Amino acid sequence: MKAFVLRSYGSPGHLDLTAVDTLVPAAGEVLVRVRATSINPYDWHHMRGEPRIARIMPGTLGLRAPKHPILGCDMAGLVEAVGKDVTEFRPGDDVFALLSHGGFAEYVCVPEHLLARKPANLSYEQAAAVPAAAATALLGLRDVGRIEPGQRVLVNGASGGVGTFAVQIARALGTRVDAVCSAANADLVRSIGADDVIDYAREDFTRTGRRYDVLLDIAGSRPASACRRALAPRGTLVLIGGPAGRWVQPAGHMFSSLATGPLVAQRIAMADTVSCTAKKQVLMTLITLIEDGKVTPVISRSYAFHELQEAIRYQEQGHVPGKVVVTI
Ligand SMILES: NC(=O)c1ccc[n+]([C@@H]2O[C@H](COP(=O)([O-])OP(=O)(O)OC[C@H]3O[C@@H](n4cnc5c(N)ncnc54)[C@H](OP(=O)(O)O)[C@@H]3O)[C@@H](O)[C@H]2O)c1
Repeated sequence: MKAFVLRSYGSPGHLDLTAVDTLVPAAGEVLVRVRATSINPYDWHHMRGEPRIARIMPGTLGLRAPKHPILGCDMAGLVEAVGKDVTEFRPGDDVFALLSHGGFAEYVCVPEHLLARKPANLSYEQAAAVPAAAATALLGLRDVGRIEPGQRVLVNGASGGVGTFAVQIARALGTRVDAVCSAANADLVRSIGADDVIDYAREDFTRTGRRYDVLLDIAGSRPASACRRALAPRGTLVLIGGPAGRWVQPAGHMFSSLATGPLVAQRIAMADTVSCTAKKQVLMTLITLIEDGKVTPVISRSYAFHELQEAIRYQEQGHVPGKVVVTI
């Protein structure tokens, strides 16, 4: 089989499309013929080994070299074979999953407990756009933000991968949603349900005078101390991401924001999709929202497998509306 293999940290050019050993599913695993994947900041953080501070944090990046040579955390495809003790899937089933790695390949072995059936109304490309970004939006709003119908939600970074899911999920869960993004993407976020759109180049969302019950901070463009101005007295700031940097960011932004939490009445908490132990259950909720027509992936561009390096270069620019997918 063919896969993009990363032997040392670096730019997308370090990803090498090459033949690797055929996979055999172990007990409890499902071998999937990958039909599509999508690009997430998670992938290029692992590709570059950045921020470098993460190399010394347990459970994240390898110290000198990538822990896993095949990246790619989103996957949609077709079951090819199942290992011993697999009961829920059989060859020919359409599936998708949120992986830690392995999606940038023609085949991947997935533990049964991570795999879910592909939403019936989505293509492989659309389904591959869902796992990491939509799961992060759902965890941030529902589990960390604890949103309730009728509340006011602000999504900072509303036009990107996580943001376009967050706007739709917040609406589906009965809240009023305002969105912060560039003027170029204002029509897009309105079309998926945003009530008001704030152009970050013209207006500082922390100084509008409006107060939100939950502020989902995906862009991390303002410090927590400023974000608190836009929160109701008992509101929640949900930290999702921040500006990328070589050495410390976005980890520095997240940890300095968290550090202010114990000092203030408002709640400041981080959404962490990677360590979520209920990934499949999260996908099951998303399947319902998608099949009910309440959430639809927004896809900006689609690339062929051999163009995966180009897809990462495009996504890394940080201003892509919606998701970037790769067909395999
Ligand atoms: N905590 C977790 O478990 C988790 C999981 C997934 C992702 N993340 C993090 O979440 C962040 C976003 O991920 P993503 O996949 O959504 O990335 P993305 O698709 O690149 O989206 C980022 C969005 O941020 C917007 N943006 C850029 N500058 C901004 C500013 N000054 N103010 C407001 N918005 C601005 C851009 O909108 P315009 O194009 O309109 O400028 C862009 O659409 C990353 O830091 C990522 O690492 C965290």
